[in-house]
Amino acid sequence: MRKKIVAGNWKMNKTLQEGIELAKEVNAKVKALNAQNVQVIVGTPFIHLAEVAKVVDPVIAVSAQNCATEVSGAFTGEVSAAMVASTGSRYVILGHSERRSYYGETDAILVKKVARALENKLDVIFCVGEVLEERETEKHFEVVKSQLVNGIFNLSNEEFAHVIIAYEPVWAIGTGKTATSAQAQEMHAFIRKTVAEKYGKETAENTSILYGGSCNAKNADELFTNPDVDGGLIGGASLKAEDFSLIVAARSKH
Ligand code: 13P
Repeated sequence: MRKKIVAGNWKMNKTLQEGIELAKEVNAKVKALNAQNVQVIVGTPFIHLAEVAKVVDPVIAVSAQNCATEVSGAFTGEVSAAMVASTGSRYVILGHSERRSYYGETDAILVKKVARALENKLDVIFCVGEVLEERETEKHFEVVKSQLVNGIFNLSNEEFAHVIIAYEPVWAIGTGKTATSAQAQEMHAFIRKTVAEKYGKETAENTSILYGGSCNAKNADELFTNPDVDGGLIGGASLKAEDFSLIVAARSKH
């Protein structure tokens, strides 16, 4: 059975000290919820990973937000998947729209990053999503399918079991404009169908598909009532322990 997941993506926020404080607060609030049916993940900047992994209980997993395409060597400023794994992190977010658009991450680059992550036993939270113009011109299904096919459909069935998909419509990220519950469900069902066509129905049923884009303590409840929305990838609201834990509580309820 697929997992219910609430993952925070802190993006480039919080100094190390602030991050440790936030992680401790999140840990206390999530523990108090005793939401055993939800996998809670915090996605921190690289420098926070090892420290955050130390202060959270094992029920909370830690995730990086990126990793290098290469294994090791002369790649100044890069952080390898092996380094991420060595901090105690179990996940890595790859293909986020901010990485695709600001740092030129192409499908070919993402194929390499996903491979490095899986080689190092990291589960991948693979992000897909269309920009506003693509939705307005009704290309959103085509765009998301292409991101899946060219980014992760090279994987074997075994490898694919370590992938979580996050649908993040770019027009909803950090804008306060959430996809409607119906829009989220429609795309999530499409993603599951697309996965089923490639990997079979059973694998598709076992794949967690998260929604991301202005998901918050107020709208999480409605989003999570959808049968194909397995959880959320949370940006802004993950920076406030109270809001983040309310989202975990909403996920736990349904
Ligand atoms: P917001 O929740 O701030 O819109 O960000 C979503 C996101 O990009 C998570 O990866």
